[in-house]
Amino acid sequence: MTDRTSAETLNRRRFLGAASLAGAGAALSAIPALAGETAKSEALITDVQDWQRYLGDGVDKHPYGVPSKFEKNVIRRDVPWLTASAESSVNFTPLHDLDGIITPSGLCFERHHGGVAEINPADHRLMINGLVDKPLVFTMDDIKRMPRVNKVYFLECAANSGMEWRGSQLNGCQFTHGMIHNVMYTGVPLKVLLDEAGLKPNAKWLMLEGADSAGMNRSLPIEKALNDVMIAFAMNGEALRPEQGYPLRAVIPGWEGNLWVKWLRRIEAGDQPWQTREETSKYTDLLADGNSRKHTFVMDAKSVVTNPSPQAPLKHKGRNVLSGLAWSGRGTVKRVDVSMDGGRNWQTARIDGPTFDKSVVRFYVDFDWNGQELMIQSRAIDSTGYVQPSKDELRKVRGVNSIYHNNGIQTWLVHSGGETENVEIG
Ligand code: MTE
Ligand code: CO
Repeated sequence: MTDRTSAETLNRRRFLGAASLAGAGAALSAIPALAGETAKSEALITDVQDWQRYLGDGVDKHPYGVPSKFEKNVIRRDVPWLTASAESSVNFTPLHDLDGIITPSGLCFERHHGGVAEINPADHRLMINGLVDKPLVFTMDDIKRMPRVNKVYFLECAANSGMEWRGSQLNGCQFTHGMIHNVMYTGVPLKVLLDEAGLKPNAKWLMLEGADSAGMNRSLPIEKALNDVMIAFAMNGEALRPEQGYPLRAVIPGWEGNLWVKWLRRIEAGDQPWQTREETSKYTDLLADGNSRKHTFVMDAKSVVTNPSPQAPLKHKGRNVLSGLAWSGRGTVKRVDVSMDGGRNWQTARIDGPTFDKSVVRFYVDFDWNGQELMIQSRAIDSTGYVQPSKDELRKVRGVNSIYHNNGIQTWLVHSGGETENVEIG
């Protein structure tokens, strides 16, 4: 098996032979085959194995647990040619290696504009100033004495799938869709902090500023800030990872990742959006007519099949599990449809595990594969009734100049040997 996980597997392919898929619907039949084999004598069952011959490690070996050494390929990866330096770059969540809905903290993709700030929480301060009655400064201890909440939310970078606007390009869902993670945050509702400071009636926008070398800042409308924004200090039950903004970050549910300011040090209330370099030169969507869409904050419904996918080909005929993720920044995912024949026939996937507001859901299709070519797609339908569009539908409205907000339907072509590649239907 070749290693399909490296960035060199860059591929630019367009698949036109949909006719070869006639009858692919048969792949969706009920599941006759057993997954196991009839029991027979085999050394792995009958003999004492190496790992049974000696005492294993004691409880003091790993004070902080790490995954098995056999899982060493389950890692974040970057695409070196995408950006000029690793400090202002991105790496990607290995979606094809994960299951359920929670991203393990150590595998959450990272996006930094000026590298990771290393901050001693004892020295961290959060200031609230601007159009408030009482400018305030909080220590981390202060923040942990405020009423806190726990919420599971996805964070998707606006540039997720950005390399795919003009055609299929990166061979793996880690690279096409891996700028997303989904974790449980613990923190204080921003409204609680703003109420302490007392917003003036003309406060309409907040400027959120990070303590990293990029001093990244973004403007946030006050309605969102008072609705569900959180100031989080923990993810998945423990302190935020340094890469994710330790000791404090903004959580802006359902909105593009860029607003989720990490290493959050200051919130300034004003009566209009701040004109930052970020906002004027980036995070706007350039349209075909030369105009730009601006303040496109919400992440529309999207989904991707994570297995099979180019880094996780089909290995067995007969019984198989198709698996994927779906999400919507406008609420919950109501339904996910899956096609195995390039969008001709669709079936409803089985959503399993909890469905939270503005969180990913996990979906499955249990199917029987007889070795025929498949063209696998998924589409999410959210609680507003919005249906995830095809890439062509999206391009009709937005052209191909944008990098941001590509939520088009992904197609994976599964060859008869099981190898899977990123294609587009012409
Ligand atoms: N906050 C600061 N201070 N500096 C940054 O570079 N990057 C932003 C946002 N917050 C960034 C930041 C971008 S573009 C994204 S997509 C998310 O953080 C990524 O969050 P993550 O690194 O936890 O995945
Ligand atoms: Co981003």
